[in-house]
Amino acid sequence: MIKAFIFDLDGVIVDTAKYHFIAWRRMANAVGSDFTEEENEKLKGVSRMESLDLILEWGGVEKTVAEKQELATQKNEWYREYILKMDDSEILEGILPFLDAAEAQGLKLAVGSSSKNATTILEQIGLKDRFEVIIDGNKLTRSKPDPQVFEMGAEAMGLKPNECVVFEDAEKGVDAALSGGFYAVGVGGDNLKHAHHVVPDFTNLTPNDILQALPAAAI
Ligand code: BG6
Ligand code: MG
Repeated sequence: MIKAFIFDLDGVIVDTAKYHFIAWRRMANAVGSDFTEEENEKLKGVSRMESLDLILEWGGVEKTVAEKQELATQKNEWYREYILKMDDSEILEGILPFLDAAEAQGLKLAVGSSSKNATTILEQIGLKDRFEVIIDGNKLTRSKPDPQVFEMGAEAMGLKPNECVVFEDAEKGVDAALSGGFYAVGVGGDNLKHAHHVVPDFTNLTPNDILQALPAAAI
């Protein structure tokens, strides 16, 4: 029986991909390289250091470990300039009524994000106190598609994976949820068809719409 919803943050609750893109491009340009918005899609759900490696690889740029650390730190400073300007107007449509309805139905709510900035973003948009558990990139030793982030979330709520639904906008995030034995709902893209259910976004969506779309064993 489903007892909790675990939400990815970036791309599910807020659209931060645009800020990651601007900050990563600034970094790429600084090392004489660049990358496209299409390539940026491939960075969704990917950790900071893995994203840096991909961007450098696309540009054919080689850097030492120490230089990479510096570039990642610089990018994060630029990224934080943008996220520190965020407010509740950036919460994606339908999220607030969905959280209200889920809470009213007695479902527990958690966030499972790869981002080390997840708690800052939740504070900026005023949602930090809405979640019983927040697992962010600072607590993780393994990135998605490893299920660690969601396993830690379920464990902190005292629940088993098959009692939780994970909402994810990234292919690697859906893979992580499925490999951990969670129910997975893809939010957005065509690349999420392996999830148990896919929704375009949260507009007019209710928790019951989700529960009814899952395999019978979930309810
Ligand atoms: C994920 C984003 O949520 O967090 C990725 O989808 C990002 O694009 C990753 O690289 C790590 O974020 P941060 O804030 O720790 O650099
Ligand atoms: Mg995401």
